[in-house]
Amino acid sequence: MPQDANVLGTLFGGQMVSWMDISASKAVHRFLKDTNADAALTRAIDAIEFKEPVHVGNWVNFEAKIISTGRSSIHIQIDAYKETKELDKLLACTARFTFVSVKKLQDGTYEKVDHNKTV
Ligand SMILES: CC(C)(COP(=O)(O)OP(=O)(O)OC[C@H]1O[C@@H](n2cnc3c(N)ncnc32)[C@H](O)[C@@H]1OP(=O)(O)O)[C@@H](O)C(=O)NCCC(=O)NCCS
Repeated sequence: MPQDANVLGTLFGGQMVSWMDISASKAVHRFLKDTNADAALTRAIDAIEFKEPVHVGNWVNFEAKIISTGRSSIHIQIDAYKETKELDKLLACTARFTFVSVKKLQDGTYEKVDHNKTV
C-alpha cells in the first residue's frame, strides 16, 4: 500500500521488518502451544538482507522456519518473497530472528522461561 512505501516508492525497510517480526511471532506461537510459556519476545534480529525492492502494488509472502532452539531461545529464519502478476516468487528479504520464551509475573513483568522443546 502507498503508506508502506519510502520516498522512492519502494517498500520501507522498517515496514518489512515489522511484517517479518509478526511472521516469526506466529511460528513461535505455534511452537510454544504445548509448553508452559505465556508468550515470547523478540530478543535479536540478525543477518537481515534486503535483496530486491518491493514496489507499491506487489504482494509479499512470508515463510518462517524454526531452525534451532536453546533453553529459552528460539531461532527463526524468515524469508520474504515478492509476488507480482508476472512473477510467482522472488526472494526479496531474509533475516534470522531470536525470540525468548517468557512467563508473565504477578506484577505484570515478564521473565525468561525454559520451553523444554527442540526442533
Ligand atoms: C527477553 C528478556 C525477558 C530475556 O531476558 P534475560 O533474562 O536477560 O535473558 P537473556 O536475553 O540474556 O537470554 C535469554 C536467551 O536469549 C539468548 N540471547 C541473548 N542475546 C542474544 C542475541 N543477541 N542473539 C541471540 N540470542 C541471544 C541467550 O543466549 C538465552 O538463550 P538460552 O536461554 O536458550 O540459553 C529480556 O531480554 C527482555 O525483556 N528484552 C526486551 C524484549 C522486547 O522488548 N522485545 C521487543 C518487543 S517483542
